[in-house]
Amino acid sequence: MVAEIRCSTATLTSWSGEALAVGLFTGEAGEASRNQLLERFGAAVADRLEQRRFKGKPGESLSIDLLGQSPSLLVLVGLGAPADFGPEQLRSAAAAASKNAASAGASQFALAMPVEGLAPQAAAAAMAEAVRLSLYSDQRFKSETDPQPSLSQVELLGLDNSAQAAVESSRAVCSGVELARELVAAPPNVVTPAALADTAADIAREFGLDLKVLERSDCEALGMGSYLAVAKGSDLPPKFIHLTYRPQGEANRRLVLVGKGLTFDSGGYNLKTAGSQIDMMKYDMGGSAAVLGAMRAIAELKPAGVEVHMIVAACENMISGGAIHPGAIVTASNGKTIEINNTDAEGRLTLADALVYACKLEPDAVVDLATLTGACVIALGEEIAGLWSPCDPLAQGLIEAGAQGGETLWRMPLRASYRAGLKSGLADMKNTGPRPGGSITAALFLQDFVAPEVAWAHLDIAGTVWSDKGRGLDPAGATGYGVRTLVNWVQAGGPA
Ligand code: BES
Ligand code: MN
Ligand code: ZN
Repeated sequence: MVAEIRCSTATLTSWSGEALAVGLFTGEAGEASRNQLLERFGAAVADRLEQRRFKGKPGESLSIDLLGQSPSLLVLVGLGAPADFGPEQLRSAAAAASKNAASAGASQFALAMPVEGLAPQAAAAAMAEAVRLSLYSDQRFKSETDPQPSLSQVELLGLDNSAQAAVESSRAVCSGVELARELVAAPPNVVTPAALADTAADIAREFGLDLKVLERSDCEALGMGSYLAVAKGSDLPPKFIHLTYRPQGEANRRLVLVGKGLTFDSGGYNLKTAGSQIDMMKYDMGGSAAVLGAMRAIAELKPAGVEVHMIVAACENMISGGAIHPGAIVTASNGKTIEINNTDAEGRLTLADALVYACKLEPDAVVDLATLTGACVIALGEEIAGLWSPCDPLAQGLIEAGAQGGETLWRMPLRASYRAGLKSGLADMKNTGPRPGGSITAALFLQDFVAPEVAWAHLDIAGTVWSDKGRGLDPAGATGYGVRTLVNWVQAGGPA
C-alpha cells in the first residue's frame, strides 16, 4: 500500500525523514553520489559499501540502519552503467528500493535517483508506478491477513512540481493495473462471466460510462454461433459486455479494445491434460482484465477527443452433454462457417464474434488482447507479448505505448501463406492449424473476422499475464499486463 506520492526538489544531501533510497551507478559514474553519501553519513557508510562489495550493478541492493539518525534507514540500489540507464532501469531500481524500505518497516520514504537525463514526467510516472505496483499484495482470500508493508508518504527527489501531474495520472493507471491483477488472480468460482459483467457495471456506475450486456438470446439474435458454441458446455450463462467511454466535447477518434474473457478454460472435449496447467486456466480472462483495467483508468483520466469501446465476450469452456463436439461446424456472425477441430482453441471462437461486433462500430482502430496460445508462451516467454498487425503505424504506436509503460511487445508475422493450415474440407475454415507456428495461425484466424478497412492489432498475452516468481514491479502472480500499454496508447490518441 502506498498512500501519498509527491515530487520534491530536495536532494540526497538535504532530505530528512525516515528512509532514504539512493541509486548508484557502477564505476566512476557512481563516484559523485558516493561522495555525497560520504559527506553526509560519514566513512562508516562508505566502509560498509566496500565491505559488502557493492558495485552498483542492476539488481544489487543494500540496506543500512543508521540508528538514531535522520534518515534512520539508507537503502542503496545499483543502477548499472549510465549509458544503459533509462526508464526501465529506473523502474526496477525504484521497485527494489521500495520493497526494501517497506519490508524494513519504513513508512516515510524518499527516492534519490539520477533523473536529470530523463523527461521529468516520464521519470515521475515510472517511479510512482514502481513504488505502488511493487508493493501490491493480494490478501483477499486469506482468512487471516498478515500486516502488509506499506509506505504512507513517498517523495520523488530531484523533481519539481511540474512532474506532479504525471504522478496523479499514474494513480489512475495503477488502479487499473490493480483491478486487472485482482480479476486475473481471483479463482474461477469467483470471477465468472457474470462477475466480469458486474465489474463493468461498477466502472460504468462510478465513472458514468455506458454499459450494454448482451445475454445469450441477444447474441443468438445477432448470429454469434462461434462465441455461443464455446459457452454451450457451461452451466454459467455467457455475458457479452460492451462498455463505452465518451469524452466531453467532440470525439474525433473511435477506438475499440477487445479482451478474451474465458473465466475458465478446461479445453472442452479436447480436455487439457497433465502438464497443460489446467489449474491455472482461471487466468484465461487476462485479456478482459486488461481491457477492464484500462477502461477504469481511462474513465478516470478522461482523455479528450477519443471515444473508447470495450468488448468482452465472456464465458467458460467446459464439458457437459450440451458442450460443443469436436468436429462441430458453426456459423459466426459474419456468416463464415467454422469446423471446430479442437475445442481447446476456444478463445479465437469467442473473439471472432467480438471482432465482427467491434468492426460494426466503424472504429478507427481495434486492438484485441488474449491469452490465446501456448505457442506464444514458448516463443516469447513471460516478459514479452506477441503483437500481430497488418498496419505498421498501429503496430509502432502500440510498441511505443508499451515501452513507455514498461511492457514489452514484439511484432510477429501475419504470414498469409500459413493460412492454408486452417483449410477445412467442409467449412470455410477450421479453428486450428498445425502445431508449428500456432500463434501465427491463431492470429490469421482472427484476421478473418476483421473488416479489411479497419486498422487492427492482436496482442497474445498468454505468457505475460502471470509471473510465477515475480519480477521488477510485478509481485509473484497476476501482473495486470496490458493496462499501461492500452492507457498510454489511448492517451496518445490511438493510431497515428
Ligand atoms: N488459453 C489457452 C492458451 C494458453 C495456454 C494460455 C497456456 C496460457 C498458457 C488457449 O485457449 C488454448 O488452449 N490454446 C491451445 C490452442 C491449440 C489447441 C491449437 C494451445 O495453445 O495449446
Ligand atoms: Mn483453450
Ligand atoms: Zn483459452
